[in-house]
Amino acid sequence: MARIYAGAMDRLVGQAPQHVSRTGDGESASQVAAARELSVVVPTFNERDNVAVLFARLAETLDGIAWEVIFVDDNSPDATWRRVQEMAQRDPRVRCLRRIGRRGLSGACIEGILASSAPYVAVMDADLQHDETQLPKMLALLRGGDAELVVGSRYIDGGSADSFNRQRRGASEFATTLAKKLLRVEIADPMSGFFMMRRDRFEQVAPELSVQGFKILLDIVATAKGQLRAVEIPYTFGSRLHGESKLDSMVALDFLGLLLAKLTGDAVSLRFLLFALVGSIGLVVHLAVLDVAFNLFGYSFAGAQLIGAVAAMTSNFVLNNFLTYRDQRLKGLAVLRGLLTFYLVCSVGLLANVGVAFSIYGQQPIWWLAGAAGALMGVVWNYAMSGLFVWRKR
Ligand code: GDD
Ligand code: MN
Repeated sequence: MARIYAGAMDRLVGQAPQHVSRTGDGESASQVAAARELSVVVPTFNERDNVAVLFARLAETLDGIAWEVIFVDDNSPDATWRRVQEMAQRDPRVRCLRRIGRRGLSGACIEGILASSAPYVAVMDADLQHDETQLPKMLALLRGGDAELVVGSRYIDGGSADSFNRQRRGASEFATTLAKKLLRVEIADPMSGFFMMRRDRFEQVAPELSVQGFKILLDIVATAKGQLRAVEIPYTFGSRLHGESKLDSMVALDFLGLLLAKLTGDAVSLRFLLFALVGSIGLVVHLAVLDVAFNLFGYSFAGAQLIGAVAAMTSNFVLNNFLTYRDQRLKGLAVLRGLLTFYLVCSVGLLANVGVAFSIYGQQPIWWLAGAAGALMGVVWNYAMSGLFVWRKR
């Protein structure tokens, strides 16, 4: 390794090799200084007790390869990032990317890969469910040019996912079938979170990838539209070492969003659809509360209408906070601030709604067209402004 390093430096700065080799003391320092061949990207969220174990296993398995590991931590409450920073201070093969105000497995992987510069990148989980001893084999396949992408697969001969419960296995199989049919993806395990690929090929698809959700590999393969030479190798999906899975029932929603985005060429965003859906639920809430306040409690129409509007805005806020912006969910005091800002945003949205409807009606007195245009204006405004001011990225 030291020799490669000296040679490379020699070419770069044109100095005598003896001079350079004097600076490269210690085996691990020179391994890192040599052009890194492999970057292992590991997304983490509350994996404090797993990162050191994973690093030790990587170091053992990747002995003799110039590698690094980039942990991408979304500011974990358990301070995983602090553990990683401590490791990085002791060993230059460890890097820590701490993201604040962002959540998401796919986004974390994308940023980690883009922060690397090795010709090959691997993505794997921190919880030791992925079999790191497969990495040298994956690298060999890429080096040989046989493949541009190597996927660790649970669903080919020799692979398995024994640690899955029945329900999760069923869901995973259903999603896999759907993805293969709809997006014409050929690989057996497109939901795998364990793969290695050429970084230049990744950079080509990167601008089109979705940062939301879990399905980074599916996204990469679907975006490449059959242009990526892929090989699958079997492995056994193990059990988690410490901590718990972050995959909840909402990943179904993420998956749907990815399908939608890919099928429509990114024209339809799931977030906007959810926001509009919540808006229509709000309409029902509004009418129901108006009915009760006006007919049952005898409020004046204006009073009942106001109560209905406030009820609808409140329920919209709660639903959006729970569903549409679940990855940026407001908690504690921020909920109150968010709710008040949301009221403000929606009130201006209502003005915009009525304004547009009036002006269209003035030109073309078709009531439903003017009404629909106004409503569309309202929802687009509310969506845009909520994203900016209510669920803005902190
Ligand atoms: N930075 C970051 N941000 N990391 C995250 C986030 C996040 O929002 N959510 C999860 N992670 C990290 C976890 O800390 C872990 O290292 C890895 O991503 C996988 O998360 P798990 O919560 O352990 O997921 P899983 O084991 O249920 O799911 C695995 O299997 C699926 C296949 O069924 C993952 O490999 C999935 O990618 C895979 O699709
Ligand atoms: Mn896991």
